[in-house]
Amino acid sequence: MDVRLEPVTIDNWEEVIKIDLPPEQWQNVDPPSVLHALCEAQFWPGKSDAVVDGDAMVGYVHHGAIQGGDAWAVAILIIDKNHQRKGYGRAAMERVIEQARSAVSGGGSILISYRPSNVAAEQLYASLGFKPEGEHEGDVLARLRF
Ligand SMILES: CC(C)(COP(=O)(O)OP(=O)(O)OC[C@H]1O[C@@H](n2cnc3c(N)ncnc32)[C@H](O)[C@@H]1OP(=O)(O)O)[C@@H](O)C(=O)NCCC(=O)NCCS
Repeated sequence: MDVRLEPVTIDNWEEVIKIDLPPEQWQNVDPPSVLHALCEAQFWPGKSDAVVDGDAMVGYVHHGAIQGGDAWAVAILIIDKNHQRKGYGRAAMERVIEQARSAVSGGGSILISYRPSNVAAEQLYASLGFKPEGEHEGDVLARLRF
C-alpha cells in the first residue's frame, strides 16, 4: 500500500466525484455526494485532496489550517465503498496528521467532528489518539494534540 494525498485538480476531479458511499453512510456526513462536498469546499478553509493508492482513487479528504494557522481541521473524510476496511481511512489520516504537524510549528492540534452514531469514525479517530471534547450542532468534537 502506497497511500498519498493528491490535490484535486482539473486532471482528476472527474474521478474524484465518482467516489461513493453506501446510502446508509451518506446519513453520517453532511454533503450528500462528493460532488456536493467539492462545491461546498470552495467556501471552506483548507484544501481538497484525493486519497490515492498507486493508480487507484480510493477516497477524498478536505483538511487544512484554521484559527489563523494555530490548528488543523478535517472537514470530511470519505473512503469509497469498494475500498473500505482496507486501512485507507487510517493511512489517509496519518498523512493528514503528518501535514498538520509540519505546518503547525511549536505544537498544535487537529479537530474533527462526527455524528454520535458513526461508530466507524469514532473508532478510527480514537485509534489515532483523538479525544472527544464536546459537541457542536449534535456532532461529537474530538481533538488530537501534538
Ligand atoms: C470512516 C471511514 C473513513 C473509515 O475508512 P476505512 O478505510 O474503512 O477505515 P480503515 O480500514 O482504515 O479502518 C481503521 C479503523 O477504523 C475503524 N472502522 C473502520 N470501519 C469501521 C466499521 N465499519 N465499523 C467499526 N469500526 C470501523 C476500525 O477501528 C478500524 O481499525 P481495524 O481495521 O483495526 O478494526 C469510512 O468508513 C467512511 O468513509 N465512512 C463514511 C464517511 C464518514 O463517516 N466519514 C467520517 C466522518 S467525516
